[in-house]
Amino acid sequence: MGKDVIIACDFDSAEKTLRFLDKFGGRKPFVKIGMELFYAEGPDIVKKIKERGHKIFLDLKLHDIPNTVKKAMAVLSGLDIDMCNVHAAGTSRMMEAAIEGLTRPDGTRPLLIAVTQLTSTDQTALEDELLIKEPIKEVVMKYACNAKNAGLDGVVCSPLEAAAVHNACGADFLTVTPGVRFADGDMGDQKRVTTPEQARIIGSDYIVVGRPITAAADPVSAYERCIKEFVS
Ligand code: C5P
Repeated sequence: MGKDVIIACDFDSAEKTLRFLDKFGGRKPFVKIGMELFYAEGPDIVKKIKERGHKIFLDLKLHDIPNTVKKAMAVLSGLDIDMCNVHAAGTSRMMEAAIEGLTRPDGTRPLLIAVTQLTSTDQTALEDELLIKEPIKEVVMKYACNAKNAGLDGVVCSPLEAAAVHNACGADFLTVTPGVRFADGDMGDQKRVTTPEQARIIGSDYIVVGRPITAAADPVSAYERCIKEFVS
């Protein structure tokens, strides 16, 4: 599977999203639809973007009892998405149920990846609120191994963790990594960031890039810069 740049389309309406994608003309970037856009527009936005020829990562981060996740995934499997995700914290049994639900009658399914620990969770929150006493990096690695053993295709993690995840779970296990900024760019609220070039060197398979592209004066050239640094 080739490396690619996924644009996080964190907009609150179909109109803003499609107007943004219009700028790319015949170019069809891989697009991430998150909770904001999906909750605003429903499954219809997935169909509209798919009809335009984009690959879609539906980032809804499911986390519930196994039976509920299985049934929800069965619904999502009908949406012609390319990738979707769950929280690894839902346990191995929930992740196995997610795969069962996502697998279509013909045996095909979208890629399924797991969020390990959110990058907004730090060691203090892990220890004081979640009562997990291990170092966060070990928690991330354990959750990645759980996902691998449950049959998932990869994890969402920091680019800084991509090499360690590949070492533990294999080169084919996908690392999808947000927290990417240009060397001369604004950090926003992201803390542990890398440039697209660093993410390529560390071994990310996909980078998820939002504001450095969506808020750029020229989004298409910002996207091309990501492709140049990360893919080529
Ligand atoms: O604008 P920015 O490049 O920071 O967007 C990153 C995207 O990746 C957002 O859609 C955000 O929700 C998502 N994300 C993240 N960190 C995680 C998981 C998802 O930034 N751990």
